[in-house]
Amino acid sequence: MHTQQLFSLKNEVAIVTGGGQGLGEQMATGLAEAGAHVIIADMNLANAEKVASNLRSLGIESFGFQVDVTKKEMIDIMVRAVIDRFGKIDVLVTSAGIGQWVPAEDMPEDDWKRVIDVNLNGTFLCCQVVGREMIKKEKGSIITISSMSGMVANTPQTQSHYNASKGGVIMLVKSLASEWAPYHIRVNTIAPGYMETQLVTDLLKRLPEYAEAWSKLVPFKRFGQPEEIKGPCVFLASNASSYITGSVLVMDGGYTIW
Ligand SMILES: NC(=O)c1ccc[n+]([C@@H]2O[C@H](COP(=O)([O-])OP(=O)(O)OC[C@H]3O[C@@H](n4cnc5c(N)ncnc54)[C@H](O)[C@@H]3O)[C@@H](O)[C@H]2O)c1
Repeated sequence: MHTQQLFSLKNEVAIVTGGGQGLGEQMATGLAEAGAHVIIADMNLANAEKVASNLRSLGIESFGFQVDVTKKEMIDIMVRAVIDRFGKIDVLVTSAGIGQWVPAEDMPEDDWKRVIDVNLNGTFLCCQVVGREMIKKEKGSIITISSMSGMVANTPQTQSHYNASKGGVIMLVKSLASEWAPYHIRVNTIAPGYMETQLVTDLLKRLPEYAEAWSKLVPFKRFGQPEEIKGPCVFLASNASSYITGSVLVMDGGYTIW
């Protein structure tokens, strides 16, 4: 296959959770630019619809859907609508996620449960519901968004629930890759480092001095720009990565080297 064809997603159908902003918006744009029809699933409907409207100008079909990834019934309704319209789902990207800093010894149980629920349980539920459709077609590529925080405990911030949720996502990916390989479904994860999105800028509002501390720990001496995730996402979604499953694609400016 010609290299340009390897990266093409023409007429494929993709769902991106958390696609209303940040990394999800960029990955949705990358998939659409590669030719896929893209469904934006986000809790924030206004953002999801805005992104979908921008993507339609690329000549593909796109629509926004209000989905809370912790609510299975909302995922079910969205997936049913996508199957009714397109008959298949080729690509799932799970980018919906939240972060918080709180010392473990002071962490209210509800905070622990909320972060695990969105980041880990929500990822599992989306993979399960979409995976069932992919199994019927014996085809699919699932890309979860974990984090370098799933592999190393970042410092100086205190985020044991976040780190645990992302470590869980990495192991979930390997488990699903193993179970679903017989159905030709590839399951991989992108583990970003510090990316300049609202999630990070909101957290830094309380402790802006952390930004400098972090930069010193990144070999590239800068944060990642959100659009830098487009390439890794299209690579994992497309035939360019046809022999890759269960892998963790780390994109952290070298943070985890040291
Ligand atoms: N920004 C970083 O530095 C960084 C680094 C590593 C990993 N990540 C991960 O990347 C993913 C995207 O992060 P981001 O930086 O783009 O964050 P962001 O806050 O900019 O965007 C997150 C999106 O997810 C949506 N969302 C949140 N909870 C949801 C829910 N329950 N159901 C549906 N949608 C929900 C939000 O509405 C928002 O549109 C997250 O999983 C995050 O943990 C981010």
